[in-house]
Amino acid sequence: MHHPGKVELVKAGHGFESRSLLQLMMKKYFTDLRRTYKFTNELLQFVKALHPQKWKSTLSLNYIDLPKSFLDPFLIDVVSNFQCSPIVIHFPPNNWYDWHTDFKRVATINSLLHEAESLTMFGEPVASENPNAKHMKNIVQLKYSVGEMYLLDVQQMHAVLNLNQNRYLLSVGINMPENLSSIMHYCEEYST
Ligand SMILES: [Fe+2]
Repeated sequence: MHHPGKVELVKAGHGFESRSLLQLMMKKYFTDLRRTYKFTNELLQFVKALHPQKWKSTLSLNYIDLPKSFLDPFLIDVVSNFQCSPIVIHFPPNNWYDWHTDFKRVATINSLLHEAESLTMFGEPVASENPNAKHMKNIVQLKYSVGEMYLLDVQQMHAVLNLNQNRYLLSVGINMPENLSSIMHYCEEYST
């Protein structure tokens, strides 16, 4: 027999629990700083016009050091208070960046420079019986809003799937041995 009312109740309850859990996990993995990067369009035009040889290449992606003239007032203060490596990352089309934690970077302040069909995910590893397989749980997507700044805990496992276009991301790496909670505190107290 059909009980539409009962089904609705179960659905509502489940949705509420999922939302709370999601908010809890989002706080753990990354934070929307509610701050806009001031030179989004200018930096995008700059990197698109760069000669290909200007990019430094790793096996899987390309990057440039961010010219100091593209530090906005907030980032100028961040880099003067913490040991930072501000870069722009170029992700080529159709690439998968497997689950990892960052090397040397304790956190990053990231801002996406344009709309891009891509997925940035955080999650927790699950033990697998198959040594060739990696399984993750509690996955949360970081849905970048273009020009918005986010603080990421890159010592948590994360992965990126970039689909069919070039993707340009401002990424201000905050290096070890800086401390995530002091960076978070600094960003929260920052008031201009
Ligand atoms: Fe990473």
